[in-house]
Order: sequence, then structure tokens, then C-alpha cells
Amino acid sequence: MRGVEAFRVQGGSPLIGEVRVRGAKNSVLKLMAVALLAEGRTTITNVPDIMDVDIMARLIERLGASVTFDRAARRLDIDVPAELEQRADYDLVRQMRASISVLGPLIARLGVADIALPGGDAIGSRGLDMHLAGLERMGAKVTSEHGYVLASAPERLKGAPIWLDFPSVGATETLHMAAVTADGTTVIDNAAREPEIVDICRMLTAMGAQIEGTGTSTLTITGVPTLTSTTHRTVPDRIVAGTWAVAAAITGGDVRIVDADPQHLDLALDKLTAAGAEVTGEPDGFRVRMTDRPTAVDIVTLPYPGFATDLQPQFIALNAVATGMAMVTENLFESRFKFVNELIRLGADVRIEGHHALVRGRERLSGAPVVATDIRAGASLVLAGLVASGETLVTDVHHIDRGYDSFIPDLQRLGADIERIPAPIDEAV
Ligand code: EPU
Repeated sequence: MRGVEAFRVQGGSPLIGEVRVRGAKNSVLKLMAVALLAEGRTTITNVPDIMDVDIMARLIERLGASVTFDRAARRLDIDVPAELEQRADYDLVRQMRASISVLGPLIARLGVADIALPGGDAIGSRGLDMHLAGLERMGAKVTSEHGYVLASAPERLKGAPIWLDFPSVGATETLHMAAVTADGTTVIDNAAREPEIVDICRMLTAMGAQIEGTGTSTLTITGVPTLTSTTHRTVPDRIVAGTWAVAAAITGGDVRIVDADPQHLDLALDKLTAAGAEVTGEPDGFRVRMTDRPTAVDIVTLPYPGFATDLQPQFIALNAVATGMAMVTENLFESRFKFVNELIRLGADVRIEGHHALVRGRERLSGAPVVATDIRAGASLVLAGLVASGETLVTDVHHIDRGYDSFIPDLQRLGADIERIPAPIDEAV
């Protein structure tokens, strides 16, 4: 589907000023699923006003909850009834892979969950195998039919030791959401340690869950009979904060990034410093200044605390205009270099060899029409457009709207020459 809007960017203005970061997309979507674990009203604050939150709201409403989103206050009130529906339909799940995060809460509350498989995934194949194998270890029966995965545990789930092959964010979340009300103790080894996982553990703990090892790679969860609803503030979005940091550096700007936690970005900010930026901590966030052309920096993506794959495209854009040459290695998602062809349309010199990208910095990029292929690719193309000479037109911006709250107004406030326009009619046949 082609987006109906586009961003028109005129390159050349350094970004200067202050920008505020809201709560993390990759946390809040799961916190909304966590709310399903307790009857009553759960309130989530610091919620980003992004498309994925609207999709998740529709999904949990379909399951029986009522959701009120006060966009101005960035607050969600979720009322969860005693009875929930067990089925998450394909029309919503296909729009957002994170829909899978209702699997854990549904099986915990109802003993059964019937979830459409996100596009392209088959049961047991890469993508969901660790989620499902973990549930099976806890006594669930898992089958797949007509594009749906059906998990059932008519008796309560039973606590079990679980070793993940890889510290998967999604599998860690599904399994700890399922384990909080299971019978006995679950130990998840090689668990993911992302700040968003810590956020979910904190909310679950406030609801009465017993979790040890929060923030470590071993989570020990002792099941309790029921959880109670709570009020929770979403952790700041480190990927959005990191995107602003690169935006400041790539444009030779000076930006204070507030309501952000620089500790969640240690490695990325260290790379920016190596690229020549001046990064300073501030009580409510951090500041990034850049005066010279950046120096190219090597990047290797890994699970947290390694370098975030969700910042890889933005750093490729930075390297594309840097002095020197850098190797960027992507270890999490094999298709994450897809956007590089678009960057090349802007004049970038990037060669892909398997999961490595060799980037030779160019003094100048030149504006052109490009297509956003996913959220972070889209952000990266906007960053490149900010420094390209002339006009860049980014289409399919619905991808960017999935994860960036007030992106265009914030860029405009910082001095960027950018606007949202109706997408030109696609004449290609
Ligand atoms: N994987 C499996 N089997 C599984 C689970 C995962 O093979 O059972 C594979 C995946 O196919 C992938 C890799 O392991 O190749 C990483 O997957 P992981 O489960 O860690 O990631 P995720 O939960 O699908 C979340 C974020 C991503 C982010 C990754 C890694 C959400 C909604 N998504 O995905 O965010 O890149 O963790 O940090 O939380 C984004 O925001 O742009 C984004 C893609």
C-alpha cells in the first residue's frame, strides 16, 4: 500500500534548540497488553501519540477492554473487564507485529489464546519459535491452523526453566507475561535486557507480580494468583532520542534532547562522540553539538546493551556524509539494509556484502524522491534529506508515523525546512 502523504525536505539547515522525547513505542505497546492481566482500570502515562498505539488500542478493545486516549495529556486509561475475548484477528495483527504481545496475557488470563500469525510467519519458523516453545515448556498445547496459532492450557500454566536460544525481546516479553500468574516458578535464561523489558517488569511488579533479576539475563518469576491494576509511566523512547541525537550531529547542529535517559544510549552516544560530536549530560536529558563534518564510525548491532539495530539506519546516514569509511554490521534483522538502495538514490556510497555494509563518506548528498520502507529507514532518509542539497521527497511516511510522535512539527521548531504534503499521485504502472 502506498502512503497518502509525503515529507518534502529542503536540506541545509542545522537543527538548533530543544526537543522533548515521549514514552517508548516498544514499551507502551507491551504495557497495553500487560494491562489485560488485571481486571479494573490501568492508567499509562507518557504515551506517544503514534499510529501503533492506535492499532494496539483497537486490538485490545476487540478483546473486550475499553480504551480512552487523552492525546493532549499523552495518557491512556484502559478498563479491563472480568471476561475477555480469546481471538486476535488477522486484520489488526497484520498491521503490527507487536500484536503478538497479547498472546502471553490472554493465555495467562483465559487459559487459551487464538492469535493470527503476523504476515509471512509459519509456526515453528523463525519469528515466533521461541515464544511458542517457551509456552509449551510451561504446559501449553500449541497448534496452528488457517493462519492462526491456538495456544491452550486448560489447567494453569506451570512454571518451568526456559533457556532462550537468543535474547529475543518479544519471546522474553511473551514468556514473562505468561509466567506471572503461572503455578510455581519460571526461570527465563538468556533473557533480553532492553530498557523496555525493564519497564514491563516494573509495571508487572507494581501490579503484584514477583520477579527477580529485572534488568539481568536471568528472570525468575514466581506466579501469583491474580494481579491488580496500576498506574505506570512509560520509559522514554531511547530510539527516538538517538534519532534526534544523530539529527543534531548530521546537520552540524546543537540540540538539547529532554525527557530522555542518556544511560540507555551509552554506546550510541559514545559512537557519536567518536564521530566528533560533543555530547553532554543534562539533568533532564542530554545535549548534542557538532561543528565539523562527522568522522565515519564502525557499528555492530547486538541485543542490549549492544548497539541497537533500531539506530543502525540513522548511523548509516551519518556515515554517508562523514570523512572516511565505516563498516556497519547488522546481526538482528537480515532485511534491515533494504533502505540502502534509497540512500544510494541520494548519492550515498554504500556497498552491501551479506550482513555488512561498507559506507564511504561523501562530502555531499543530493536530494531526490525516496521511499520509506520501515520506521527507522524512513527516519534515516529524513536525516539524509536534511543535509542533502536541494529537495528530497520521502513517500510512504505512514511507516514513520508508526513510531515518531510530532516528528515534523518538532523538526520545524528546530529549524528544519520540512513539511508534510499529500503524496504525489504514483504514475508508475
Ligand atoms: N526471532 C526468532 N524467533 C523468535 C523470536 C525472534 O528467530 O521466537 C528472531 C527475529 O526474527 C529477529 C531476531 O530474533 O531476527 C530479533 O527478534 P526480537 O524478538 O528480539 O525482536 P522483536 O521483539 O520482534 C523488538 C522491537 C524491534 C527491535 C527488536 C530488537 C517491538 C515491537 N519491536 O522486535 O523494533 O528492532 O526488538 O531490539 O518491540 C522498531 O521499533 O523499528 C523495531 C523493529
